[in-house]
Amino acid sequence: MLWIKALHVTAMVTWFAGLFYLPRLFVYHADTEDLAGRERFKVMERRLYTMLNIGMTATIVFGLWVLSFEPVLLGLWWMKLKLALVALLIAYHLWCGRLVRAFRDDRNLHGSRWYRYFNEAPSLLLLAIVMLVIVRPWA
Ligand code: HEM
Repeated sequence: MLWIKALHVTAMVTWFAGLFYLPRLFVYHADTEDLAGRERFKVMERRLYTMLNIGMTATIVFGLWVLSFEPVLLGLWWMKLKLALVALLIAYHLWCGRLVRAFRDDRNLHGSRWYRYFNEAPSLLLLAIVMLVIVRPWA
C-alpha cells in the first residue's frame, strides 16, 4: 500500500507542476501581441494541459486505490474535507481547459492581471490539502 501512496504523491506533484505553470503561461500569453508568439503559447498550453490531465488522472486513480485499502478513512471529517477541496481543484483544472480552448480560438477575455490572481488558487488549495492530510488538525 505504501508503494501506491508514494505513486499517489508523485502523481500529485506532476499535476501541481502543471497547475502552477499553465496559468503562468496565460499571464504572458495575455500580454503577447505578435502572431508567432501567440501561436507558440497555444502549442505550449495544449501540450502542458495534456500533462495536467495525466497528472490528475493518476492522482485520482492512485488516491482511490489507497482509499480502497483503508475505507474507514472515508468516515473521517478531514478526509471528507480533503475530497471536497479536491473537487474544487478538479473544477479549477477544467476551468484551465476552457481557458486553453479560449486562447486557442483567440477568444481570451481576461488581462494578465486577472491571470495573476487566478494563478494563486492552486497554491492555496495545495496548502490546505497537505495541512489536512499531514497535520489532521482536530482529528
Ligand atoms: C480523488 C482524489 C484523492 C483521493 C481519493 C486521495 C486519497 C488519499 C488517501 C486515502 C491517502 C492515505 C491517507 C492515509 O493513509 O493517512 C492519501 C494520502 C495523501 N494525499 Fe491524497 N487523495 C486524493 C487527492 C490528493 C490531492 C489532490 C493531494 C494534494 C493536493 C493529495 C495529497 C496527499 C498526500 C500529501 C498524502 C500523503 C499523506 C501521508 O503521508 O500519509 N491527495 N490520499
